Amino acid sequence: MRLIHSGKVRDVYEDRGDLILVASDRVSVFDVILPTPIPDKGKVLTRLSLWWFERLADVVPNHVISATDVPEEFAGRAVRCRRLRMIPVECIARGYLAGSGLKEYERDGSISGVPLPAGLVEGSRLPEPIFTPTTKAPLGTHDEFVTFEQVVAQEGAEVAQELRRLTLEIYRRGAAIAAERGIIVADTKLEFGWSEDGVLTLGDELLTSDSSRFWPAEDWRPGGPQFAFDKQYLRDWALSTGWDKTEPAPEVPPEIVEITRDRYIEAYERITGEKW
Ligand SMILES: Nc1ncnc2c1ncn2[C@@H]1O[C@H](COP(=O)(O)OP(=O)(O)OP(=O)(O)O)[C@@H](O)[C@H]1O
Ligand SMILES: [Mg+2]
Repeated sequence: MRLIHSGKVRDVYEDRGDLILVASDRVSVFDVILPTPIPDKGKVLTRLSLWWFERLADVVPNHVISATDVPEEFAGRAVRCRRLRMIPVECIARGYLAGSGLKEYERDGSISGVPLPAGLVEGSRLPEPIFTPTTKAPLGTHDEFVTFEQVVAQEGAEVAQELRRLTLEIYRRGAAIAAERGIIVADTKLEFGWSEDGVLTLGDELLTSDSSRFWPAEDWRPGGPQFAFDKQYLRDWALSTGWDKTEPAPEVPPEIVEITRDRYIEAYERITGEKW
């Protein structure tokens, strides 16, 4: 196996022409990796992603080949995938106002060129889910919103429309399932690519808390920052230490690690209805 890419929390290997996506227990807060891993996070998110891929396989073909045909040392936190020619657009669907979408809205009254009604606040539910693509930024820089027209210019009208349709369909289906279990999916990011035989295919990870914002529905109060399902204790704790959000981040004490691990597991159990 050959390591071909190392992201903030995942490593990508090439093996027999396939990709092996390996999720680590690393966790990032405010885009900085913490020095302390969260035990089982890689396994929990891998299993959740696989659950969604299976659940939503009727919407669009996906890259999953096998969760078991992976090297022993990565068992449980690796997925063997078809290698795709990735489309360099981060396909984001938003149902609520948060994060960079909120900033864009406050500045322009729109996100990725999609106009929104006036008077929305942080955490507001949008009148309907919207497609807000971004560029895939090189390491160390931040992704930037692009308009749908820019995606058309880059990928062609037919592909752009298909990316938007599929992204919104996956979001709607996923958000509806999560809502039944008391979890709001505020937004999510998808990545698509082309298979060897030219089929538009869903890649990367799917509806995990690393690619999406999950909020507990019972705590949803528009008008301020929302409680993040799994990372909130980490974030609050990190800020309480006086940390300035730059490298290096402080070591996380065991009790905060434990609470955070429990939250990842709770999100998994609530969404899938399965015991961890
Ligand atoms: N089936 C696939 N074929 C080819 N590349 C893929 C496939 N699925 C995912 N990828 C790519 O693998 C990489 C996964 O890396 P990862 O998400 O860990 O890091 P990153 O996206 O570079 O950075 P970040 O840590 O900010 O997410 C991404 O570049 C993604 O586009
Ligand atoms: Mg990524």
